[in-house]
Amino acid sequence: MKHDERLTSLYTHQWIQYPRAEQALAKLEEFLALPQMHRMPNMLLVGDTNNGKTALIRRFSQKHLPALDQQQAASSVPLIVIQAPPAPDERRFYQAILSHVFAPFRPSHSAAHLQHQVLRLLSAVQTKMLIIDEIHHILAGPLIKQRHFLNVIKYLGNELQIPIIAIGTKDAFHAIQTDEQLANRFEPVVLPRWTMNADYLRLLASFEQVFALEHASSLVKPALARKILHISGGTIGEISSLLRRAAREAIERGTEQITPELLDSCGYMSPLQRRQAASAV
Ligand SMILES: Nc1ncnc2c1ncn2[C@@H]1O[C@H](COP(=O)(O)OP(=O)(O)OP(=O)(O)O)[C@@H](O)[C@H]1O
Ligand SMILES: [Mg+2]
Repeated sequence: MKHDERLTSLYTHQWIQYPRAEQALAKLEEFLALPQMHRMPNMLLVGDTNNGKTALIRRFSQKHLPALDQQQAASSVPLIVIQAPPAPDERRFYQAILSHVFAPFRPSHSAAHLQHQVLRLLSAVQTKMLIIDEIHHILAGPLIKQRHFLNVIKYLGNELQIPIIAIGTKDAFHAIQTDEQLANRFEPVVLPRWTMNADYLRLLASFEQVFALEHASSLVKPALARKILHISGGTIGEISSLLRRAAREAIERGTEQITPELLDSCGYMSPLQRRQAASAV
């Protein structure tokens, strides 16, 4: 591969498998295969920001794309994946779902009307799972609004009889805990921060393999592994940014190896440094 191609390839997303993600994916498959029942289980995928939640859902949804009929229109849409609107606004929530299946709607219609349209449409296209990313957006704000949205979610789940997968931060987890009925219907699946253990070392080894530098960096060596964890703060997104940045420098400088010194001098800014820079403005 040529120099430029190698640099570009560093930035093309490549899914790296790790046990926590595989377990979550297996659980999602299990939920998707469930027959419709009166009381479907739901899942709350919780984790820190930048720790791979959306990447995991994207990976899952790529395996369950809509089926197209002869006119290339979607005849069935097994998964609906939406991002919750930035504020607890019920109409915008339904509109996000309708937009996902390219259904025409009138934004001026009432929440009740849009809700009805969502229920009709999702059963027409045989949706088997509703995935709501950034759920903390709609479970924010005053308690009364939170409660309202918790009821919206409960109602959708009951009516559609499909599993609902909510993805969010710890705030979402706490909001759901406030509603006893929902709390026992939502199974929490956690993507914790990375710590010094065998899974983490395997992750580093996978990154090293993906970068394919000419010399071995041995990222799994305890001192180096610890340093990477310390600088990055331990989320997969930051680990990935730090290592990509370092690999890029290693290619550009021709050293072809990630060393402790390179981690310090590659130009990566840690979350802590970014916060400090911002507060200095
Ligand atoms: N399995 C993986 N393999 C390789 N890189 C990954 C993997 N999972 C996540 N990443 C990297 O981590 C970054 C952050 O992941 P993602 O966007 O999924 O985080 P998130 O948990 O959804 O964060 P937020 O709560 O801020 O939305 C991604 O841009 C991706 O580069
Ligand atoms: Mg995300």
